[in-house]
Amino acid sequence: MGHAGVYRTGLLNGVRCAALRGRAHLYEGHPAHHATLPVRAMAHLGIRALFVSNAAGAVNRLFAPGDLMLILDHLNLMGRDPLSGEGLDEQLPPPDLEQPYDAGLCDDVRAAALELGIVLREGVYAANLGPSFETPAEIRMAAVLGADAVGMSTVPEVITARAMGVRCFGVSCMTNYGAGISPVPLSHVEVIETTDRIAGTFQSLVLSALARVADRLSREPNG
Ligand code: HPA
Repeated sequence: MGHAGVYRTGLLNGVRCAALRGRAHLYEGHPAHHATLPVRAMAHLGIRALFVSNAAGAVNRLFAPGDLMLILDHLNLMGRDPLSGEGLDEQLPPPDLEQPYDAGLCDDVRAAALELGIVLREGVYAANLGPSFETPAEIRMAAVLGADAVGMSTVPEVITARAMGVRCFGVSCMTNYGAGISPVPLSHVEVIETTDRIAGTFQSLVLSALARVADRLSREPNG
């Protein structure tokens, strides 16, 4: 749904990066361990950090469409785990997920936002299987469970990356209010429109954060 399938590698501000535009969603019918194949491939290629992004519905009533949220933690409500499944060619050890999103890399995103004057929300991302949007009752449930935003992705990638020792950080773009929060019914069109509106801000945040992360990693042992 509105997702290209493009893979690029190269230098971004002098930082060696591999970028995926689009992703395989579990709602498309892919087994979770297939959907995360690109992450496993990148981990085998030696990436040290994975940046994840997504469009999400705002559950936190202090958030609004167009807001960017640093992901601090997640709730896996997909009913799937990318490390389980029949016919796995590679059995990964279960990660502890004590810190799914790396504290240091989150600091780098905060610093980038501060420098650029970008308001950065922070919170918990809840992943539902989709592709249906939630009901108002499901959004209220997500809030009770501690979610600030809901979406249909990201969690499988992060679990896989953590199982392979890759540090993760990520940002959600609030493309709409979660169902029932606003009197205006949400739609896929709104999701696309808000994404387009925020794209420039999002890009500058990512570029600046990546430079900081690369600098941090280069100063660490094995850097
Ligand atoms: N719910 C789930 N996924 C989403 C939403 C939403 O409201 N907006 C963008 N992706």
